[in-house]
Amino acid sequence: MAKLIDGKAVSAQVKEQVRIETAELMAKHGIQPSLAVVIVGSDPASRVYVNNKKKACEAMGFKSLEYALPEETTQEELVALVKKMNADPEINGILVQLPVPKHINDMAIIKAINPKKDVDAFHPENVGRIAIGEFKFLPCTPAGVMALIDSAGIEVAGKNCVVIGRSNIVGKPMGMLLMHRNGTVTVCHSYTKDLASITRQADILVATVGKPNFVTGDMVKEGAVVIDVGINRLDNGKLCGDVNFAEVEPKASYITPVPGGVGPMTIAMLMRNTLTAAKLQNGIKD
Ligand code: GUN
Repeated sequence: MAKLIDGKAVSAQVKEQVRIETAELMAKHGIQPSLAVVIVGSDPASRVYVNNKKKACEAMGFKSLEYALPEETTQEELVALVKKMNADPEINGILVQLPVPKHINDMAIIKAINPKKDVDAFHPENVGRIAIGEFKFLPCTPAGVMALIDSAGIEVAGKNCVVIGRSNIVGKPMGMLLMHRNGTVTVCHSYTKDLASITRQADILVATVGKPNFVTGDMVKEGAVVIDVGINRLDNGKLCGDVNFAEVEPKASYITPVPGGVGPMTIAMLMRNTLTAAKLQNGIKD
């Protein structure tokens, strides 16, 4: 029987700390952190995520701005909005909700964001900083995974860490963060041969595939720590992770549930990054 890592509880702790530091920043320096969120089109999942981000901002005492743009918005229009926000001292963090409509090149938008306001840490400058370990912001989901691992007192150094998935948003930076902690990291993907033989070596297994119940019991070593980044909506409307919980939970030592695992951590880390951005932009060190 695995111990559950409670993402709701850990995210509540992170957010409470951010809320306290925000109140101090307001009291000492009169600075209210602000996050601008841009959503293009009407993807229902993106709408839910953006609403959750706005609610979290309010709970932190942040100013929250939303730019909801129509599906037909051009890349040039979106870049122009980002540039306007870059120049606005009232905005500390800029987040363009992904995915953007197909006619817009997401990398062109990410590159337009001022790296100091890039609270997703997706800009090439921030990605490079993460690679060399000189970062200001960490991407929210991988940072949330690390916070969950830390909350359970799990040591990464020397462990075999296997990440399934190599996206720019999660898989690649996840591998980098585990390497920074001296894990021995393998990043697997759709071209990986005999995936199960690799995942069975994992002391720490992170699934970020985007396929429901992808990781089955036979892919997991007895006593492994299993982190499920997937949030998949099934036909019956229920949320389901990338890990087959019923099969994997009896073998794992620790496991994150879906919902209530990694999901709540992403927003908590976004709040942390927005506060960090406000401090950095105002030359406040602590
Ligand atoms: N879409 C899914 N996850 C994310 C994220 O972390 N940031 C942004 N901007 N869009 C997303």
